[in-house]
Amino acid sequence: MFNVEKVREDFPVLKKGVIYLDSAASSLTPKIVLDKMFEYYLEYRSNIERGLYEFSQRASEEYENTRKTVANFLGAKSPDEIVFTKNTTEAINIVAHSLSFKKGEKIVTTLLEHHSNLLPWIRCKERYGVKVELVKPNIQGLFNLTDFEKAIDDNTKIVALTHVSNVLGVITPVKEVAEIAHEHGALILVDGAQSTPHMKIDVKSLGCDFFAFSGHKMCGPTGSGGLYIREELMKTLDPLYVGGGTVELVEPETFKLKDDPSKFEAGTPPIAEVIGLKAAIEYLTSIGVENIEEHEKILSKKIYEGLVETPRVEVYGPEPKFKLGVTSFNVSGFSPNDVALVLDSTARIAVRSGMHCAHPLVRHILGKPQGTVRVSTYLYNKVEEVEKFLSVIREISRSAGG
Ligand SMILES: Cc1ncc(COP(=O)(O)O)c(C=O)c1O
Repeated sequence: MFNVEKVREDFPVLKKGVIYLDSAASSLTPKIVLDKMFEYYLEYRSNIERGLYEFSQRASEEYENTRKTVANFLGAKSPDEIVFTKNTTEAINIVAHSLSFKKGEKIVTTLLEHHSNLLPWIRCKERYGVKVELVKPNIQGLFNLTDFEKAIDDNTKIVALTHVSNVLGVITPVKEVAEIAHEHGALILVDGAQSTPHMKIDVKSLGCDFFAFSGHKMCGPTGSGGLYIREELMKTLDPLYVGGGTVELVEPETFKLKDDPSKFEAGTPPIAEVIGLKAAIEYLTSIGVENIEEHEKILSKKIYEGLVETPRVEVYGPEPKFKLGVTSFNVSGFSPNDVALVLDSTARIAVRSGMHCAHPLVRHILGKPQGTVRVSTYLYNKVEEVEKFLSVIREISRSAGG
């Protein structure tokens, strides 16, 4: 049985009295993750894959164990399909600059994307002379599959699509788009930054070739994240960074890279963070990702309905059945930053305001040059917190009404 009060005991920072409704930016961290990182620093602090002594052997083992845990969590075939990165942004950049593009090839992405899944592709256009085609969602963030059918052709090298929007919470039809991409021999990268923390992921059944996620949004440490690369592609990619840890053999002027994920992990990685990520995934698994999703659905529905009923509040995005725990809105007469500041100063409620690293979506699809207020939940949020949030929004709305 999911028990939110019990869950909250695992997050010491909640004792500070904050109502944290900004988990889409970064989640809170349970103590069990911090303990695991401390254990590394206090008991076997050393580098990995470089020493034959006991500490280094243990650090390497713990680090590699995370790879197995991540592979299982994402439904990958093997740990050899998992590369550790600092975050989703790094993972996407690795893909963008490890593929070899031919001039005139096409990248298909969308106007729903976070900048992290847009800028790397625009840069490919500038650097490699490829075309970038952007599929447009409707004002609710929903796609029409025929627009992907029109955009993806035999010249398309890769399709890059977010799984869940960080502004509207809308879930995209990744599986269907992957099928269209593969019919044309194109690859598909899925930005899983906002889906992995909140719903069961199975990269195989989604049919993706690359899947990027951020550990820090799913109870893991900052500086932890990863990239799934379908096994068959691992050998064909030429990593963005090279250096220590990535090679099999080096001659004075040549080198041969390894064929496993470590070829993408040049230099000393964030070891404590990777080890902490395993504890985070085990923690989420022990609670049950499905239970977390159910809990968040209740909160999301309450937030959505509460906001929709409030005068002078404009809510963006579709109704709750099409989305996960992120909702964007504005209160007329107030800038998004004003609303966020009032929530913080009157009730210690933390939300995000502004453009959410999604200028094209917020400015061109939603038509909101000042941005929106974004409220996002996670497993530790409770109904009473949502009610408090809604009551402050109602007060703000009343003051706007004169
Ligand atoms: C959908 C989406 N993609 C990518 C990112 C970038 O994540 P990170 O900052 O962890 O690299 C975010 C962050 O909010 C996001 O929401």
